[in-house]
Amino acid sequence: MADETNQPHMHEGRPVPTPPAQAPASGPIGGDPDAAAPELGKLNVDYTIPGVEPDDTDPYRWHTGEKRDHGGEDAIEVIDLVKQFGTTRIQNGLNLGLPDDEVSMVLGPSGTGKSVLIKLIVGLLYPDAGDILVHGESVPNMTDDELFEMRKKFGLLFQDGALFGSMNIYDNTAFPLRQHTDKSEDEIAEIVNRRLGEVGLAEAHYKMPNELSGGMRKRAGFARALVLDPAIVFFDEPDSGLDPVRTALLCELIREVHEENGGCYMVISHDLGTARRIADFIAVLWKGRIVESGPSEELFNSDNDFVRQFLNAEVDGPLAMD
Ligand SMILES: Nc1ncnc2c1ncn2[C@@H]1O[C@H](COP(=O)(O)OP(=O)(O)O)[C@@H](O)[C@H]1O
Ligand SMILES: [Mg+2]
Repeated sequence: MADETNQPHMHEGRPVPTPPAQAPASGPIGGDPDAAAPELGKLNVDYTIPGVEPDDTDPYRWHTGEKRDHGGEDAIEVIDLVKQFGTTRIQNGLNLGLPDDEVSMVLGPSGTGKSVLIKLIVGLLYPDAGDILVHGESVPNMTDDELFEMRKKFGLLFQDGALFGSMNIYDNTAFPLRQHTDKSEDEIAEIVNRRLGEVGLAEAHYKMPNELSGGMRKRAGFARALVLDPAIVFFDEPDSGLDPVRTALLCELIREVHEENGGCYMVISHDLGTARRIADFIAVLWKGRIVESGPSEELFNSDNDFVRQFLNAEVDGPLAMD
């Protein structure tokens, strides 16, 4: 459903953003204030950063953007994505494809826009330019009703499980089913029991979130993320705040549940141990773009200096403390 007019327009109350007045003049978002709004997905973006010449200070000199073939279809495609808050560009022409039916990992340092990327994919944030396709359908072009329908495909596990503090674990897990389906309480009980059992919380039904450990809260969040049989599950730093053994156990659980259910799992983290444990496919994110992506064993053996340094946590290499 492409916009044919090139003019700013409304989607059921969600306006296509117009360029922020304070954007840098030479960036793709700034420029001629009288120019027509970019057509989604077709923007010819000038990605240069003002004042940075494309020499060896070019922050993108390691970005081949190479996407090694994983031999399957992509569930999620991110195309020339630009998102900025004020004058800060978070995604700067991001291109990424995430394979269906595999566990993918987007690895990048803190503050590089990984959580923002999830919000853009699920349509909680709106891009300044570019496009995001989920199973071939453009998320920024969806109406609110279409977005609501699409979100039923998604499971989301936030950093701390994001449970409702005033609901016990059973009700937290049942919540998406009560909200999005007209299943009976008996049918809901069957699903909730099965999912809580799967994550090892069969005995915790009546516990409140604040009575659980951090690891248990994450597992409860995982159970809740699975109750609608999502085709795509996002894990935002599932390993944060867990000790190494609990991280390993959670990784094992994610792999087991994926083997059982399939689908596109997108795990976001900066932890290399987690990457080695669970990723079939890895994308390395830096400065708002993917440096390289591909099947994980190929990326761990990449001859790209940046990727090699990052994935092996080497001290020597192009990445420095800046
Ligand atoms: N709603 C927002 N408004 C303004 N800035 C934001 C917003 N959300 C995130 N940011 C900024 O975007 C950057 C990337 O954030 P985030 O995606 O959370 O990083 P991370 O890779 O650690 O998940 C951060 O500098 C953050 O402060
Ligand atoms: Mg984050």
